[in-house]
Amino acid sequence: MPSTSCLLIRRAQILLPNGDFLVGDVQTRDREIVQIAPEIPTVANEPGVKVIDATGLTLLPGAIDPQVHFREPGLEHKEDLFTASCACARGGVTSFLEMPNTRPLTTTQQTLDDKLQRAAQKCLVNYGFFIGATAEDLPDLLTAHPTPGIKIFMGSMHGQLLVDQETALESIFAKGERLIAVHAEDQARIKQRRQEFAGIHDPAIHSQIQDNQAALLATQLALGLSKKYQRRLHILHMSTAEEAELLRQDKPNWVTAEVTPQHLLLNTSAYAKIGTLAQMNPPLRSPHDNEVLWQALLDGVIDFIATDHAPHTLEEKAQEYPNSPSGMPGVETSLPVMLTQAIQGRCSVAQVSHWMSTAVAKAYRIPKKGAITPGYDADLVLVDLNTYRPVLREELLTKCGWSPFEGWNLTGWPVITIVGGQIVYNKGELNTEVRGKALSFI
Ligand code: DOR
Repeated sequence: MPSTSCLLIRRAQILLPNGDFLVGDVQTRDREIVQIAPEIPTVANEPGVKVIDATGLTLLPGAIDPQVHFREPGLEHKEDLFTASCACARGGVTSFLEMPNTRPLTTTQQTLDDKLQRAAQKCLVNYGFFIGATAEDLPDLLTAHPTPGIKIFMGSMHGQLLVDQETALESIFAKGERLIAVHAEDQARIKQRRQEFAGIHDPAIHSQIQDNQAALLATQLALGLSKKYQRRLHILHMSTAEEAELLRQDKPNWVTAEVTPQHLLLNTSAYAKIGTLAQMNPPLRSPHDNEVLWQALLDGVIDFIATDHAPHTLEEKAQEYPNSPSGMPGVETSLPVMLTQAIQGRCSVAQVSHWMSTAVAKAYRIPKKGAITPGYDADLVLVDLNTYRPVLREELLTKCGWSPFEGWNLTGWPVITIVGGQIVYNKGELNTEVRGKALSFI
């Protein structure tokens, strides 16, 4: 553990919880933010104070990415908790919530504990792990701890984690109270359309096979069950205009939804440019879907942003469709991708921070995260909103070594990332001694 226990961040443009900015200083002690003021005097002789000159930089709460696939245990050739957390540190992501489709699957307290132990040893940022539901309705779903909630794959999954029968879904919604997060795609429709379009190897067909209707049917079903049992529901990576309109009409206050930067900013035109690298589940949609999703986010119908960081190797991705796996990495680029949108006038910097930190902490009830305020955890990111730099493959830290945003010229890149009061990333350099902590959920 590095010994520095006190940081004094000077002359930053600080995002305050009310959305205003203050040019001033922030002091942290041990893991917490202790003071924010226009000018904090340096306490002479205070041991271990590290002063950061943040002139010209913007200080935001660290991003919390609530949907990632970090592949450990079992699929470490794609990514592991160390490489993924390095990518997080570079991307200003100070906490993540990870999905259960690892090997073995995270469906029991034992497999959850195993992930927590691995993360404690090698994660540079804070971590939480979902527990996966199966059709067998496992007892640990109700008691597993700590976890942000239960993940259900209603479609586009095979094996035990697929729960595509209404009776099995209903029995999960009916029991317990903890949050249920759904990957909403209708498996029966996908299966039927896979047969209809069999033999087509153009990856663009992926968006037609797993079409808008497949997503809408599953979201309708999940929403209906959530209303029937008044069960906390989170709709993962919502991708279609139809789902956004459905929620605009009818969204109980215990339901939340997220969208990925890919579904906001990429569409089916990406297949012609990057082929199977553009293949993900749920698939990329049309420019019209992009627009409607943006508006739903701006209007608060969609609550926050997740990347669905789902790394596959370039070799795996080079296989011919449909053998090519679905998924794209995202933790390293999501914050600059979204901040670039803000600087270009599509939204405000405060909104980006709300969607990528504050609203996530609120929905998952993660205490002391998502705002820069005394008493909160010192998970912070200093970004440069004045300079543009392209996404370059050779600079990426994710083990898979590629990004769907390669070549995009972005601003808002993290300059310094701080986890629990410790500098984990500083102008291209990682401090691999830093360790995050297990998140708690209240
Ligand atoms: O495209 C995807 N890939 N979507 C998912 O939900 C799962 C993910 C994966 O694990 O590869």
